[in-house]
Amino acid sequence: MSDKFYSKFIPSAKTSKKSVKESRKDYKKEDRKETSKKSDSFQKSATPKKTFYNDNYKDNADANAQLMSSYPLFKKVDIKIIDNFDEIVQGVMPLNSRQLLQLPDNIRNLSHQMTDERSTRRLGYMNDKLQLSAYIRYFTWWNLVRLSRLFSSLDEKCFPSDNAICLDLGSGPLTVVTALWLARPDLRQKELTWYCLDVSQNSLAAGEDIFLSVAARLPGKTWKIIRVKGNFGTFIKQKADFITCANMFNEIEQQGEMPPEYQNKKDFDQLINYAKPDTKFLLIEPGVPKAARTLTQFRERFIKQGYHIYSPCPHLDECPMNGFKAYTGSSHKWCNFAFTTTDAPKKLQQLSINAKLPKERAVLSFISAVPENPVVSIKIDSSLKTLRIVSDGFNLPYHRTGFYACSSFGLTLLSVAEEEAQNYNSGDLLEVKIKTPDSALKTDEKSGAVIIRL
Ligand SMILES: C[S@@+](CC[C@H](N)C(=O)[O-])C[C@H]1O[C@@H](n2cnc3c(N)ncnc32)[C@H](O)[C@@H]1O
Repeated sequence: MSDKFYSKFIPSAKTSKKSVKESRKDYKKEDRKETSKKSDSFQKSATPKKTFYNDNYKDNADANAQLMSSYPLFKKVDIKIIDNFDEIVQGVMPLNSRQLLQLPDNIRNLSHQMTDERSTRRLGYMNDKLQLSAYIRYFTWWNLVRLSRLFSSLDEKCFPSDNAICLDLGSGPLTVVTALWLARPDLRQKELTWYCLDVSQNSLAAGEDIFLSVAARLPGKTWKIIRVKGNFGTFIKQKADFITCANMFNEIEQQGEMPPEYQNKKDFDQLINYAKPDTKFLLIEPGVPKAARTLTQFRERFIKQGYHIYSPCPHLDECPMNGFKAYTGSSHKWCNFAFTTTDAPKKLQQLSINAKLPKERAVLSFISAVPENPVVSIKIDSSLKTLRIVSDGFNLPYHRTGFYACSSFGLTLLSVAEEEAQNYNSGDLLEVKIKTPDSALKTDEKSGAVIIRL
């Protein structure tokens, strides 16, 4: 398939020039933390390897492409409500000073239950007062940071139109709804009805109070919230125009007795069951291998049904980072995006340190699936290629920096001059002009990635 259809998503010039040298160091530290137990770490494969010292990396190799434009995946939402989210929560579900002192311990305990001790976690853990409070004051806050940065950068075509019926699955404390309200001033002008579904009634109730408290602080048409207590699959009175889900499918897979591939098919069928023929989907999961694999499988199913993956994919061919064997451990790369948290809310960073869960980078995986046909532009210049950066930078010989990227070539290795590397970030969407015939492009011996050298 031509990569041209995607060029319409690329706004003009590069807008993000973060100090990434610093963040790259941070990323590596966090990588070690978040992936230390995994043998199939993408980031591991992104560390410099001897195999990079091959013929393809001669320092006198010429650039084979030219950067035309670049667009970041994450945009910080500068709204005080995010910096002071703890105050909103304290207004809605106050803790006394003794409870506030215990909060870091409760957060740490919940974090264990959500990761290494998840077999002990009950399905209705969000109904428990202590756990819900810890979830909202830590996980919801971090999710608001993550999601608002993603939502603010996505094209408006990924979102619902006026008077839409929306459905947020595994809504918990309505994190997605609140993040959308904060990140999308355009959506605040729309009349939206949100069905928010979760097994935990307490969580939905707290989430509605939080959403209303946040919504009252910004101008807009406060959305209608309809809480639905129930399992994924519970009947919803209206078919939805827009379906969102953040961080639920990984929990469903942990509960499931079915093999992951069957579970995925069942979950996909249920998603479609909630939808109309022209429904838009926005699904987000933690950026870990199994969860990313789930989204890649959904991606394939959406494409088979005639959907288009508006973001993050720069093509509709087979995913080169499909997390294959994520369940058994392998060197397969998985699709995930990260940003440094150096500019995250200071109070949230301090809370994380107090809970002994310091966070230096935030990671997620996502897909936006839309039913409409992308406008396939007339091929003006077949040498233009769209790339999505899917890794942090890593050192290459001869003062070069590498980034793995996704393109219609499949797995792609972007090589840039070391001093330019700060202009590139995980998630960036680049348009490059290839200067050589595609057949002359070399591939990296180790990863098989096509090498694009700027
Ligand atoms: C990690 S929380 C995510 C909450 C919110 N979407 C967010 O991103 O912050 C997962 C949520 O999914 C809910 N959940 C888990 N399994 C579910 C199921 N089978 N049906 C409905 N909700 C479920 C949990 O109760 C919890 O609120």
